[in-house]
Amino acid sequence: MSPSWVRASAPAKINLHLGVGPVRPDGYHPLATVYQAVGLVDEVTVSPSAKWCVTIAGDERLALSDVPVDGTNIAVRAARLLAERAGVDDALAIRIDKGIPVAGGMAGGSADAAATLVACDALWRLQTPREELVRLASELGSDVPFALVGGTAVGTGRGEVVVPAMVRGDYWWVVVGSSAGLSTPEVYREFDVLAGGLGIDDPGIPDELMEALRSHDLEKLALSLHNDLEPAALRMRPRLSEVLTTGIEETALGALLSGSGPSCLFLCSGPEHAQQVAHGLRAGGFGAVSVARGPVGGAKVERVG
Ligand code: C5P
Repeated sequence: MSPSWVRASAPAKINLHLGVGPVRPDGYHPLATVYQAVGLVDEVTVSPSAKWCVTIAGDERLALSDVPVDGTNIAVRAARLLAERAGVDDALAIRIDKGIPVAGGMAGGSADAAATLVACDALWRLQTPREELVRLASELGSDVPFALVGGTAVGTGRGEVVVPAMVRGDYWWVVVGSSAGLSTPEVYREFDVLAGGLGIDDPGIPDELMEALRSHDLEKLALSLHNDLEPAALRMRPRLSEVLTTGIEETALGALLSGSGPSCLFLCSGPEHAQQVAHGLRAGGFGAVSVARGPVGGAKVERVG
């Protein structure tokens, strides 16, 4: 018998390195990135319904009202794509419990798409081959394949080509979210403006970063963290400089913007240090501060009812 509902989760991503090349003819930018999945998750629950509907739940500080509840929601697009491929004609009620900042540069929408793919695969008992799910994921968005795979991985192409990386140990991060998101396409456009005429090179992954991850050398990792989108996002949201500086003053080992922002990330030496840095940032008046460990696994089914 088919289940009456399925709940799946998928993690947020951070980019330990985000190298961006010159804009391609299709409007995307070539990337060389190192993704890490961290323990902030969204949960997606799917159940058969007479018509398609989406409900969003979670902490109000996460700008939930910015998430569309119509057919443009990426979870609906993911479910419809899988349904079309499998010849399923059922409508769904989709509930999304957000734990990942909305429009925060942490791939929350991509996590919802990845969780929806695995949830619908279980609900409709399709047993879609893994490679096929990853292919569908790349149609939905550049970060969706990584949300399926999780862990720590190198991303190339427009971010959709994902190869797992050799990494030792756990990494502790403080994440400072923002109540107002940044639009990823707008940050990339600002990147193009700043890069205008500079003749930027094709992006690559620095050897020191991969060595730091293989040997769990936190000092070396802190020095290797880099995000090519940071100058563009800081121009659009100058106050983010203050967040990054405050985290370092609060003894974080390293600081960088997450993806296209505006979430800011702080590398810490362990869970106690992360709590201490988080406490300092909260005392400094920064709102949505959380502690997250990486790497964690990708999208997975949590419960079937
Ligand atoms: O792939 P995704 O739909 O998540 O991308 C959202 C937008 O971000 C794209 O429309 C594009 O403007 C920008 N983008 C980009 N280069 C990438 C990934 C995303 O320019 N590699």
